[in-house]
This record gives sequence, structure tokens and C-alpha cells, in this order.
Amino acid sequence: MTTALCPGSFDPPTNGHVDVIERAIATFDRVVVSVIDNPVKKSAFSAQERVALIRELFGDSVDVTSFDGLLVDHVREQAADVVVKGLRTVDDYEYETRMALMNRHLSGMETVFIPTNPALAFISSSLVKEVARLGGAMSGLVPDVVERALKERLS
Ligand code: PNS
Repeated sequence: MTTALCPGSFDPPTNGHVDVIERAIATFDRVVVSVIDNPVKKSAFSAQERVALIRELFGDSVDVTSFDGLLVDHVREQAADVVVKGLRTVDDYEYETRMALMNRHLSGMETVFIPTNPALAFISSSLVKEVARLGGAMSGLVPDVVERALKERLS
């Protein structure tokens, strides 16, 4: 049985995240989605709120956790075999490759990249929050449950 762990900030989860997680579910036996809980970084949603949103989106098809500290330690605790990350752009490639190689250096852990659906490659959590804050349309950017949470939080 192969377990994939999808780590991220998910502040908030977007349609791009949903695409990558759905494809991880279709590819691996078990998928763990792990929300980073970084008290230093200001986020729109608490780690508990982000975990709750992801549970609402995926139900029983994934396990959802939060973590702080090193990703490689969390991956070991979750008995995951690989980390899965989505790749949108060349910038993502450069940043994600450096993190993947650092994680491999630290623990031998492998990272599998899933190319984001090109139709969703422009979506990022930070741009979504900016558009929501300024009253722009959320259609096609985030799932309905996230749109409702964003409206409540940022309006
Ligand atoms: O949503 P993001 O910003 O792509 O998520 C980044 C995340 C959470 C995967 C990354 O910041 C991370 O792994 N943080 C844990 C700290 C760590 O292990 N750092 C050293 C490895 S490069």
C-alpha cells in the first residue's frame, strides 16, 4: 500500500489544490492532506479551520492532519511513502525542486510532482484572498464551501 502526503498552507484550499488532491487520490492507495500550522505566519484561516474545510471537501477519501516543524518528520510520523506537490509554473518548479531536494537530503524522502491542470495554473491562495477582499467574483477559483468561508472572513 502506497501512502501519499499532500502538504501545504491551504489558506484557503483552491480549485487548483482540489485538482491535485483528486489526482493523488486516483493514483495512490491512501492520501493524507497536511496543513502547515505556522503560528508566526499570519493566515486568514486557522489551521483547524483549514483542516475542517478540507474534510468538508474530501470526506473520507483522505485523512487530514496539521503539522509544525519539519515536513520530513511529519511524513515519517504519518508513515507516508511519498510527498505529492502540484506544479503550476516555472517559478513553482524552481522553488519546489529545491524543497524536494532538501527533503531528500534530510531523510531520503521522495517528492512526486503532479502538473496542475493548465486551466487552473493561474490560481493561488494569495491571489484568491486579494480578489475576495476586493469583492471580485470567486467563480471557478474555489469550491463553494471555501467561497462562503472567504466571504464571511474577509468581507
Ligand atoms: O502551500 P505551500 O506554501 O506550497 O506549502 C509549503 C510547505 C508547507 C509544504 C513547506 O513550507 C514545508 O514543507 N514546510 C515545513 C518546514 C520544512 O520542512 N522546511 C524544510 C524543507 S525545505
